[in-house]
Amino acid sequence: MGSTRWFAGILAACAYVSLAVQVHAQPPRAPVSRTTAELDRKVQNFLDAERDQWDYLNVPYQDGRILHDLVVKGGHKAILEIGTSTGHSTVWLAWAAAKTGGRVTTIEIDRGRHERALANFKRAGVAEHVDARLADAHDLVKLLPGPWDFVFQDADKEWYLQYFRDLEAKMAPGGCYTAHNVARPYARQVTEFLDYARKRPGVSFRFAEGASAEGISISCWAR
Ligand SMILES: C[S@@+](CC[C@H](N)C(=O)[O-])C[C@H]1O[C@@H](n2cnc3c(N)ncnc32)[C@H](O)[C@@H]1O
Repeated sequence: MGSTRWFAGILAACAYVSLAVQVHAQPPRAPVSRTTAELDRKVQNFLDAERDQWDYLNVPYQDGRILHDLVVKGGHKAILEIGTSTGHSTVWLAWAAAKTGGRVTTIEIDRGRHERALANFKRAGVAEHVDARLADAHDLVKLLPGPWDFVFQDADKEWYLQYFRDLEAKMAPGGCYTAHNVARPYARQVTEFLDYARKRPGVSFRFAEGASAEGISISCWAR
């Protein structure tokens, strides 16, 4: 009788342990793509190592991160950047494009900066997500067909309003148009651009929270 009770006790304990394991067992994790994890590590290492080294009018780190997050959150794929310089913002945008399955077309007029940018894209591991053009954006922006899901303008401030006018008809539904250096009066045309962008029907307008003192404006088209 004693051994029967002992055996029943063992069975009950086993059943309890089995139930507890089932209740607390974690669902199997989705397999992490090694390629994605490796790219993330490579780009993050590059951005961290270069963080204080950018010296060609490049965006501050926090502004690059904001651009990256906007693209990833919006799932934007067709990305246009006006003003590559040596490629800091492009690396952030291209990293985001790698996550959304997109690509960044970026335009720079200065050959030396364009070439340094190309080298940076390779070092960061994002070259395959970038189509870097050496051109005058005044001309090329008009020629590129779009449609664009995401635009970042960061070139000559005097042309901000004109770039926006050239591109607004090429913005995809749900697309967003961002502009850097909008918090300081760099040029009369920046103010004119902001006034114009604010009044576009069917286009929301706001400033990015957490951006540097340079400021980033965000205009988004309805879906
Ligand atoms: C503020 S910097 C861009 C910084 C860059 N977005 C980054 O974060 O690394 C502006 C760049 O626009 C370029 N630029 C100015 N006018 C241009 C034009 N008409 N077409 C193309 N690039 C132009 C300048 O040569 C300069 O490198």
